[in-house]
Amino acid sequence: HDLGVVAVGFSGGQPKAGVDAAPQALIQHGLIQQLEDELEFKVSFDGEVHDYSKFMPAEDPDYRGMKKPKFVSATTQAVSEQVYNHAKSGKLVLTLGGDHSIAIGTVSGTARAIRERLDKEIAVIWVDAHADINTPETSDSGNIHGMPVAFLTGLAKEEREDTFGWLKEHHRLSTKKIVYIGLRDVDRGEKKILKEHGIKAFSMHDIDRHGIGKVMDMALGWIGSDTPIHLSFDVDALDPMWAPSTGTPVRGGLTLREGDFIAECVAETGSLVALDLVEVNPSLDEQGASDTVRAGCSIVRCALGDTLL
Ligand code: ARG
Ligand code: MN
Ligand code: MN
Ligand code: MN
Repeated sequence: HDLGVVAVGFSGGQPKAGVDAAPQALIQHGLIQQLEDELEFKVSFDGEVHDYSKFMPAEDPDYRGMKKPKFVSATTQAVSEQVYNHAKSGKLVLTLGGDHSIAIGTVSGTARAIRERLDKEIAVIWVDAHADINTPETSDSGNIHGMPVAFLTGLAKEEREDTFGWLKEHHRLSTKKIVYIGLRDVDRGEKKILKEHGIKAFSMHDIDRHGIGKVMDMALGWIGSDTPIHLSFDVDALDPMWAPSTGTPVRGGLTLREGDFIAECVAETGSLVALDLVEVNPSLDEQGASDTVRAGCSIVRCALGDTLL
């Protein structure tokens, strides 16, 4: 199978430096090599961790409460194009982030390519401690990594071309095509949005109640077979015990095996068209950085078909 890799060294969707160094750390750990040698992918990778600083405008004042709106908009627009170019030629696309704002680019690029290539709407499995569905108006932080799902579903919209106005209908997906797994830190405004729009979400409570096996059956049942899947995996879905080096850790999360299991189940569907691994920040927890990188690499390998036996 053909795999396109996009390495996105970007931290502008949130305030902590270092998440831009994750692609390098993941690659240095041997991830791409393993995908080629062990999983036998034919990998297209330009060998560079993209740095989007050329898109940083001289002035980028807060707008509708969003921090660095133009920088994040221009960067995600470029990422959308990168992912689209891989996906339209039928490649599975792996994006290594970067903070989760980059999903505005990855998911929009996949959605557009799959529409054009297969005339289908994608489904997104969003594995995260957070829902990342704040609109600019509901967000307390103004950090755009807490807003990607709102922009991707059209719950948040903006006319200005340089502030996400480039997102068009063909980039978006219905709120019915999103499934969350692992939620445990959802803002009040976000809870209201999830409820009002009937968005499918499996929190840590649901995982405790049913077990991860049943939750995956329900999540994949909701999506249905024959629907192309984009898996957007925020490493903070894992408990900080396993993935401490991340910008917004929340205790009470997934075990390492539950994280890998989710990825394995998605791989088994045979419907995966794109995968993001985001929010690894190797500079945040000196001791924990290598564990976090290892956990991230493991999730990617599992999602791309590595099996225990
Ligand atoms: N809900 C909070 C916010 O909107 C935290 C978001 C964390 N997002 C993430 N991708 N780690 O600021
Ligand atoms: Mn490139
Ligand atoms: Mn998160
Ligand atoms: Mn996230």
